[in-house]
Amino acid sequence: MTVSQSGALARCLNIADLRQVARRRLPVPVFEYLDGGADDRWSLINNIGAFDAFELVPRCLRNVSRINTATKVLGQQLDWPVMLSPIGFGGLFHHHAELAAARAANNAGTLYTLSSFGSATIEDVAGATGGPKMFQLYMAEERQRSYQLLERAKACGYSALCLTVDTPVGGNREGEVRVGMPPAARMTLRSMASVLCHPKWLYHYLTSPLYPAANYFDRRPTRKEIALVAPTPSVCWDDVARLRDGWDGPLVIKGLLSSEDAKRAVSAGVNALIISNHGGRQLDTAPAPVTLISEFVAAVGNRAEIIVDSGFRRGTHIIKALALGASACMIGRPYVYGLAAGGQSGVERALQLLRDELVRDMRLLGTPSIEDINTSVLHNHGRIG
Ligand code: FNR
Ligand code: LAC
Repeated sequence: MTVSQSGALARCLNIADLRQVARRRLPVPVFEYLDGGADDRWSLINNIGAFDAFELVPRCLRNVSRINTATKVLGQQLDWPVMLSPIGFGGLFHHHAELAAARAANNAGTLYTLSSFGSATIEDVAGATGGPKMFQLYMAEERQRSYQLLERAKACGYSALCLTVDTPVGGNREGEVRVGMPPAARMTLRSMASVLCHPKWLYHYLTSPLYPAANYFDRRPTRKEIALVAPTPSVCWDDVARLRDGWDGPLVIKGLLSSEDAKRAVSAGVNALIISNHGGRQLDTAPAPVTLISEFVAAVGNRAEIIVDSGFRRGTHIIKALALGASACMIGRPYVYGLAAGGQSGVERALQLLRDELVRDMRLLGTPSIEDINTSVLHNHGRIG
């Protein structure tokens, strides 16, 4: 019996359920690229487990009939404080790729971040949604290539620019080598067999007009060409200064884990910091971002917004990050599981599930608005009100 897509999505009760649907819909190498992590996956696993160190203490009798999740982040009024992280090569996960994700983000009242490695162009994503958008840049060795993207993002009305700094080189993702996922490894008979066992995926992948690194090339690039625009290990603070000069709106750095770097970023005129270990895909054993929020807040005060990603899977995770002082959080895999499971509707389902959890948890916690969420809700952490 074939199960209709909307039925499958409706039966997903949480992000873990969506992950299972994504796993069925994607060829093994593609799912591994999405789901895997670096080395022993310690950071990948710890990112989620680290939230358990913080317990939430509900306050009662506070009239929580009305819940207001609205907030302002990066100068944008959002319906709730969960934004979409940049994900490269979106066309691998669904043939509507970034266009589907950006539309879903807009419908869910939040900000979408387009990766410089997206399969849809800066212009196409801007055409697909009038919602708030950030553009994420990886600095290429030939800087001019990156600066051209910045100018295009500016012309298309992206409100913020985000430089990702945790990728001087790709992480050691052995899982991708084992299952034959290019470019980490050549395809094997097994990985080809897995692709052939997903004929619908294969058909859409081959016929979609979207292709990897579409912002750099006007046709499907070769592997060598992609390597030309890969993030360079020579990226440094001089690049941040140049970006600050060339971009008037909010400038964001993604991938910081040291509060010393955070202070330096603020001195360089950066407006927001995304504490992130790239979802455990880069340096393994890097700490879980949630454990660093207090330190970052102490280091930069209100001179920059603190945003956090890596490991958010539950409404309670969002609440813990906000309680510790983050302005907002971001999600990567959770929405891409949805994208793979059902395109735009799948991303909408992922966002709806997290939003519903957030609203329910705010009621249970006795915090009717985002401003009410502070350290007093955390057990054994700061003041217990
Ligand atoms: C990413 N991430 C990422 N980050 C970035 O700055 N530019 C990019 O192009 C990508 N590409 C990318 C692809 C895939 C498949 C994944 C899973 C991740 C990292 C991403 O923005 C984010 O930091 C993590 O996904 C956050 O962790 P969670 O939410 O996936 O646990
Ligand atoms: C990744 C790169 C694209 O995490 O950032 O796969």
